[in-house]
Amino acid sequence: MGTYLFGGTGESLDPKFDALSSLLDAGTFVRVEQLGVSDGWRCLEVGGGGGSVATWLADVVAPSGHVTVTDIDVTRLEERDNVTVLEHDVVSGILPGNAFDLVHARLVLFYLPARELVLRKLRDSLRPGGWLVLEEFDCLPLEVLAAAPDDAKLIMRVKNALLTLLDQAGAELAWGARIERTLLDAGLHDVSGSREVQEWEGGSAGCRLLATTARLVRAKLPLTDDEFDRYLELMASPETVVSSYAICSAQGRR
Ligand SMILES: C[S@@+](CC[C@H](N)C(=O)[O-])C[C@H]1O[C@@H](n2cnc3c(N)ncnc32)[C@H](O)[C@@H]1O
Repeated sequence: MGTYLFGGTGESLDPKFDALSSLLDAGTFVRVEQLGVSDGWRCLEVGGGGGSVATWLADVVAPSGHVTVTDIDVTRLEERDNVTVLEHDVVSGILPGNAFDLVHARLVLFYLPARELVLRKLRDSLRPGGWLVLEEFDCLPLEVLAAAPDDAKLIMRVKNALLTLLDQAGAELAWGARIERTLLDAGLHDVSGSREVQEWEGGSAGCRLLATTARLVRAKLPLTDDEFDRYLELMASPETVVSSYAICSAQGRR
């Protein structure tokens, strides 16, 4: 079974998926468009979360293409004429072989201890010539660029506490830095990748992502209520600037 630290906390995941979509969708769409995705492609979106990528893909491959979107929690995923929603654990579940022109997974393998096995499973679900696209974080670069010294310390404490929780739950914190190499090791061809570190200002999608993530694990963070409230203020204030997690992507074809 896969694990997902942020699932089943009783808190809504909607703000997290909204922040991910605002932060990452534009880059995802450019990357996937560059592969030539168009009418007729058969696509698999793994761990589709809030569904924004699956919905976009469904429009791009219509009318004759098809998108299968999976997740262990499908409550936000919508069936449409050319979209099949599958409640599916990518670790333990079976995938069809030789089936897809495009398999895309964003910030899913990061969480899964069996990530390299899953990657091979995704590869095998591609038809020959089909593309595997992974987008992942390397969480290690995040640094504070602008904040008062005590506030900067608080931001780094929250970062370190979050990373410890992720690590304990089986995430690989610098997985993003390894994805291109892992695609090559899996025997994929035409492999390339990119890595981007941004500046996230308080109130931006990136800082909203940090804030919503912290809210989801509030009970496990070693912070007083005042410290936690201050952290949320800092993540909303334009006076705060952090350098982001590195946003890494890699693609290769079978
Ligand atoms: C950080 S979210 C990313 C969501 C979406 N891919 C995005 O980038 O907006 C991780 C997603 O992976 C899903 N997930 C976690 N473990 C999974 C598993 N074993 N199989 C399928 N999906 C999984 C979670 O439910 C969640 O929707």
